[in-house]
Amino acid sequence: MADFDGLCATDCSRCPALVESRSRIVNGVGPADAALLFVGEGPGKREDEQGEPFVGRSGDVLEEALSAAGVTRRDVRITNCVRCRPPDNRDPTAEELDNCREFLEGEIETLDPELIVTLGKVPSQHLLDRSVAITSEAGDVVDVRIGDRSRRVLLSVHPAATLYDRGQRDGFFEAIERAASIAGVGSTDGEGQSQLDRFG
Ligand code: URA
Repeated sequence: MADFDGLCATDCSRCPALVESRSRIVNGVGPADAALLFVGEGPGKREDEQGEPFVGRSGDVLEEALSAAGVTRRDVRITNCVRCRPPDNRDPTAEELDNCREFLEGEIETLDPELIVTLGKVPSQHLLDRSVAITSEAGDVVDVRIGDRSRRVLLSVHPAATLYDRGQRDGFFEAIERAASIAGVGSTDGEGQSQLDRFG
């Protein structure tokens, strides 16, 4: 009912509604040994068209924040909780999240990242397996059991939240800079202290 090579799923037909709504399966992108893994909710229209996560407006914001932290998109891995676009951009159902969980857990195990960043409420709740008040918990780093290992997870608002509410932008950028610092990528040199801080 699906093929999975440890990173990419093919030929999956576990979720009838998503098979109907998708143009293609959107697997994660980025190095298979990336230290930093971003997990979003699921592909939107642009992602479904192009077959790559976070290529729409949310992706532009994510790239901007990465660049401010001295990291390029090519340095990190980006994936989603579900790999097929839900109809009308609705949230994935619990069953759809569950059906795709094997692929997300497999990708995390293959990657073995230093840090996972959850982008928004859906991936945060999915990986922490509890209710999350994302605006107040964003920036928190927690240890979470995923599969048979404990993983460090930094909670973040979804980049799209910064488009609806400019007031969320600074917090989002700070969270990404903190993530880069913890994972040891980019131009940060110690928790939250950027090159700009040092010379500014
Ligand atoms: N939002 C997500 O959660 N994932 C994407 O890939 C794009 C937008």
